[in-house]
Amino acid sequence: MSDEQRKKEIDEVTGVETTGHEWDGLKELNNPAPRWWLWVFYICIIWSIGYWVVYPSWPTLSGNTAGRFGWSSAQKLKEEQAKIADRQKVYLDRFEKASFDEIMNDEELYAFAMAGGAAAFKDNCATCHGSGGSGAKGYPNLNDDDWLWGGSIEDIYQTIMYGIRSGHDEERVSAMPAFGKDELLTRDEIAAVTNYVMSLSGEAEDEAGLGQGRTIFQDNCASCHGENGQGGRDFGAPNLSDDIWLYGGDRETIYETVYNARAGVMPTWEARLDNNTIRQLAVYVHQLGGGEEETVNVEQQQPDAGTDGVDTNAEPVEQPVDAIPGAADVIDAVNDSIQETQE
Ligand code: HEC
Ligand code: HEC
Repeated sequence: MSDEQRKKEIDEVTGVETTGHEWDGLKELNNPAPRWWLWVFYICIIWSIGYWVVYPSWPTLSGNTAGRFGWSSAQKLKEEQAKIADRQKVYLDRFEKASFDEIMNDEELYAFAMAGGAAAFKDNCATCHGSGGSGAKGYPNLNDDDWLWGGSIEDIYQTIMYGIRSGHDEERVSAMPAFGKDELLTRDEIAAVTNYVMSLSGEAEDEAGLGQGRTIFQDNCASCHGENGQGGRDFGAPNLSDDIWLYGGDRETIYETVYNARAGVMPTWEARLDNNTIRQLAVYVHQLGGGEEETVNVEQQQPDAGTDGVDTNAEPVEQPVDAIPGAADVIDAVNDSIQETQE
C-alpha cells in the first residue's frame, strides 16, 4: 500500500483516518497522542535536563560529571557514618577512660562493651572459635571456665591483643616438645604416659604400666602441666585432669599430641583492631560464661578447678545481648562502628 492510498483510507464508523496498520480486520485509527501524555513526556525531558545539571550523571573518561552541588551517594554514606560516629563518641569517650572495673559496674558502658564485643566477635573470631565461642578441635571453647592462659578480663585482653605464638614481641608463647618426633621418649614410653594421662580423668582402661607412666609424666610433663596434670597457665599448658580437651582425650589423639606436639596459633589483633574494640571483646569473652575475677596463678589452681562438664561439642550459645539493660540504646550505634573502626 502506498502512502497516497493509506492517507485516504477513512474508518467508516468513526470517520477518522487510519494508520494503515491492520490485524485480522482490526484497523488502527490515526488519532493524535493524548495531551496529558505529551505533557508528561515533555516534563520528563525537562526534568532529565535539570537532573543532569544538578546530580552526577554522564560518564566521562575519568569518572562522571559531578553535578552542580557535587552530591553523591558515597558522600551521603560518609555523612551518615559521621553521624553514627558522633552518637557513639558519647559512649566511646567514657569507655576509653574507664577501667575494666568501672565498665563492669556501669550499666551503659557494660551494654556498650557487650554490643560492640558481640559484633566484633562475629566478624573476627567466630571463624575459629565458633559463633558462640564454643570452640572446635584445636580452638578453645571460650564459654567454659577452663582456661589455657587465664580467664580474667586482663588475661583475655592480653591474649587477644598479642596473640599466642603469633610472632608478636609480646606474644604468649611456650612450646610443648615433640616427644616422639624429636626422640625424647620411645614409642613405648609415650604409650605409657598416654595411658597415665587418660587415668587423670578416669579414662585409662588398663592399670598396668601406670606407675611407669606416672614417672615419665613427673620427669617430662609436670613442669608445664603440673604435678597432678592440673595445667599450668604460665605455659598455656591445658589441664589434663578435667576431661575437657583441646585436641581430644582418646588414646590415639593424646598419643599424637605427645608424639608431635601441636603449637596452636592465635593471631595478634593489635594491628587489626583498635584498642577499644579489643577491650569490648575482652569484656564480651569474659562474660561468655567462664570469666574469672582475677588472674589466677599456677599455685592457686586446684586439680579439679574448672570442671563443669562443659562439652566442647556443645551447640554455640548466642549471648542474649537484647536482655542486657540499656543495650537497646547503644546497639545500633555500635553495630556500624565495627566496620568503621576496621576501615
Ligand atoms: C585463626 C584462628 C583464630 C582466630 C581468628 C581467633 N583465635 Fe583465639 N585462639 C586460637 C587458638 C588456636 C587458640 C589456642 C592457642 C593455644 O593452643 O594456646 C586461641 C586462644 C584464644 C584465647 C585463650 C583461651 C584460653 O583458654 O586461655 C582467647 C581468649 C581467644 N583465643 C580469643 C579470641 C578472640 C576474642 C578472637 C577474635 C578477635 C580470636 N580469639 C580469634 C585461634 C584463633
Ligand atoms: C613446655 C611445656 C610443656 C611440656 C613439658 C609438656 N606439655 Fe603438653 N602441652 C603444652 C602446651 C602449651 C599444650 C597446648 C597445645 C599446644 O598448642 O601446643 C599442651 C597440650 C598437651 C595435650 C593436649 C591436651 C588437650 O586438651 O587436647 C596433652 C595430652 C599433653 N600436652 C600432654 C603432655 C605430656 C604427656 C607431656 C610429657 C610427656 C607434656 N604434655 C609435656 C605444654 C607442655
